[in-house]
Amino acid sequence: MKILHITPELTPWSKAGGLGDATAGLVKALAQEQHQIRVVTPLYGSIAGREDFPILIPSLKVHVAGDPAKAHCRIRQTNVTEKCEAWFIEHEDYYGSSEIYPAREDAGERAAFLSRAALDICLAMDWIPDVIHCHDWTTGLVPVLLNTTAKGTFLGRTASVLTIHNLQHQGIHGRRILPFLNLPEWLYHPDELECFGGINFLKGGILHATKVTTVSPTYAKEILTPAYGFGLDEYIRRRQNDLEGILNGVDGDDWDPQTDPQIAQNFSEKKLAGKKACKLDLQKKLNLDPNPNLPLIGVVSRLWEQKGLDLTLHPLRRFLQEGKIQFVLLGSGDIALENAFRNLAEEFPLQVAVRFGYDNALAHQIEAGSDFFLMPSRFEPCGLNQLYSLAYGTVPIVRSTGGLADTVKPWTPGSKEATGIVFHDADSKAIEWALSQALELYADSKAYKAVQKKGMKCQFSWKSAAESYLACYKKALNQRT
Ligand code: ADP
Ligand code: GLC
Repeated sequence: MKILHITPELTPWSKAGGLGDATAGLVKALAQEQHQIRVVTPLYGSIAGREDFPILIPSLKVHVAGDPAKAHCRIRQTNVTEKCEAWFIEHEDYYGSSEIYPAREDAGERAAFLSRAALDICLAMDWIPDVIHCHDWTTGLVPVLLNTTAKGTFLGRTASVLTIHNLQHQGIHGRRILPFLNLPEWLYHPDELECFGGINFLKGGILHATKVTTVSPTYAKEILTPAYGFGLDEYIRRRQNDLEGILNGVDGDDWDPQTDPQIAQNFSEKKLAGKKACKLDLQKKLNLDPNPNLPLIGVVSRLWEQKGLDLTLHPLRRFLQEGKIQFVLLGSGDIALENAFRNLAEEFPLQVAVRFGYDNALAHQIEAGSDFFLMPSRFEPCGLNQLYSLAYGTVPIVRSTGGLADTVKPWTPGSKEATGIVFHDADSKAIEWALSQALELYADSKAYKAVQKKGMKCQFSWKSAAESYLACYKKALNQRT
């Protein structure tokens, strides 16, 4: 099969969260399966060495209306792996800045351009994909284009798969996006793309994709309900027969404690000594008391409401006051939350360290050096950090939602299959309970080690996800022809 992925994030070139890791891991695994895989993504200003990427198409006219001077872009190419090419859209005005999701007035147009340009590259290259796999709201209009404007072109039989990585971000933009993409006006209707007087990109993708997937089986069920549907559950229910949850995997090239070059000492399930060195290194680096016996709880996260970290402040303070834990956080986002964690660090300088901003090496060091990893998410489509934690012998403490519920097996005293601590309610009380469970487990070093090792043995591979996606592509193709 010829499969085209379209994504706003592709690790290592661009990453704002798990989406970059997920698209990179998936396309690499798909390329291993002897299919022709291409990825289209913007060439952001932050991409190192971008002017050295070979030019594939010097000037491509994209079928958009509006300012003719902005309709042209250049396409550069580089390889994700030997078997998988990435096609980068170079357009200084839209993508020249370093931000992936800037708050710009033309954010909708910028995303719409990515969708249309991806189709125009295929037509220009005479490379007609069997399936186009789009990711999240930025690419949500691709299935709409395939069902309407592009129907009479060589792309008329191309099937589409939309993966929802996060339903909260839907991309609601002005109605003028329709004429910009030469899309028909009848799409401006509540049963189509219309939403609060604008155009909802993700809704368009959900209604028009041949198949819709999301990144865990539990999230696939949750988004059918008003509690998790962010206003789109009604439309997702309409597509229930074409909806599937496929778990993300771990990219071992990037996240493997045996080979990770960014951590103090490599380690494995059989040789855990290196993990102790990683803990000490992290404590020293962050000026914490280098105490090997206090359980160190780590967090690497976007500081958004989704992640539930506001609920942790009260319970953390209790255990910090009792001198029972250390806590490390790397994140960025909500300023009030940053300040609250900054205050916590000032209050407990030897027990708490916080860092704000994006720091990939520190993210790896926290995964490697912590004893526990806390993810109290209000919702979590999949979550990659708990998977990385399992691989790094860092026992996850998670709320039972979405992919967290699908990947972490709850500990109770004496349990044999457990891989982490799991709690149910999205409130401080439940988190306090989970932390006390973690302390109880940690106090029994034999039981802690057993949970740790069980987690390290888990296999969440992109190979198995790729097989599920291939089966999904085949079904989509059958439906399209
Ligand atoms: P989400 O995509 O919702 O943010 P995931 O758990 O799927 O959550 O993925 C988050 C990814 O982003 C992980 O690879 C994590 O290490 C990384 N990450 C999040 N915040 C930071 C940060 N401040 N610095 C470095 N990496 C980060
Ligand atoms: C989103 C989700 C996260 C998921 C990631 C990759 O950002 O919030 O749960 O792991 O996408 O699919």
